[in-house]
Amino acid sequence: MSWVPRSQVAGASPVTIAGLGAYLPERVVTNDDLAASGLDTSDEWIRSRTGIAQRRYAAADQATSDLALEAGKAALADAGMGTDDVAAVIVATTTPDHAVPGTAPLVAAALGTEVGAFDVNAACSGFLYGLRVGSAMALVEDAPVLVIGAETLSRIVDPTDRGVAILFGDGAGAAVLVPDAAGSLGPFSLGADGRDPSMLWTATGGTRTPVSAAVLEARSHYLTMRGGDVYRNAVARMTAAANDVLQRAGRTIDDVDLFVGHQANIRILDAVAQRVGVDRDRVHLTVDQHGNTSAASVPLALADARHRGRLHPGDTVLLTAFGAGLTWGACLLTWNPDPTSDEGTA
Ligand code: COA
Repeated sequence: MSWVPRSQVAGASPVTIAGLGAYLPERVVTNDDLAASGLDTSDEWIRSRTGIAQRRYAAADQATSDLALEAGKAALADAGMGTDDVAAVIVATTTPDHAVPGTAPLVAAALGTEVGAFDVNAACSGFLYGLRVGSAMALVEDAPVLVIGAETLSRIVDPTDRGVAILFGDGAGAAVLVPDAAGSLGPFSLGADGRDPSMLWTATGGTRTPVSAAVLEARSHYLTMRGGDVYRNAVARMTAAANDVLQRAGRTIDDVDLFVGHQANIRILDAVAQRVGVDRDRVHLTVDQHGNTSAASVPLALADARHRGRLHPGDTVLLTAFGAGLTWGACLLTWNPDPTSDEGTA
């Protein structure tokens, strides 16, 4: 039997982002810092290949839930809400505090709530997956849902691997999703291809090959990547997902006011923007300052765009992401931060 859709729920949902929050750890690590630490690299190489100038690293006593908590609190304050208003806490992360339990229950406890709390692991696409799940929950529960993307990637990169260590940073971003008749979140285009996970993965340290002395000696519990393959797939998948949501929405790239893609690499973002047909003026970039913060990258970039006055009521924002799995996604968002206001909505 094949499935026949009965409704339009696959399209845009009447949901708004009522608040955004961001948290970046204090420690700034420049490209020169990495070279000075003994890594055989240079500021010039990293900037020209990736666009990254610096990234943040968490302090030794900080884990992902600590970063997530700060971003979550900031998003709730931005929305003018308290923890009691929230019906669920979702944390998108690929660097949880522990393999067991999830990170979201720890964040929810620190926020002082016992509402449902769970992790989404879709690697760098995790925040988009979190938005998809969170917006559906917000509608069904008729209540705000807190979606956080948080990562401490500095703990899973091999500091001696110059091909990987230069790319990643730590941080957290969060959004409060609320049902809002004047809001619009979607359509979404989410996808995954798990046929070749070794393109970007931690080969060991999970249930397939648990940590052992041999694993530690081989350093295979660290993140490894086939950079060229990742690059090509990132460009192709984000481009296709972005075009798919525009087509599903009956919109064109000319309708998009701001393009906020996963901040992996300036060359990837430029290549996607060029293929989708959006000029640099409408592309928001934070990769130079944050590096690749995986699931935190899109909400951090959104919060930065708002902070810099680049989001206006009624603006149409195109989000895209790509990550390990492989996973990818895109969605449209109408920026309408005041859920009680119809002003400026599309
Ligand atoms: N500093 C200096 N040299 C470096 C280096 C570094 N940090 N990392 C690699 N190199 C060297 C390589 O060893 C290689 O040397 P060789 O020619 O002597 O073998 C040379 O630079 C070119 O390496 P290559 O891998 O071909 O470079 P590239 O232009 O493809 O750039 C990446 C490498 C990683 C920047 C690029 O492949 C990339 O951005 N991939 C996607 C990564 C990503 O975004 N991952 C996360 C997605 S969610």
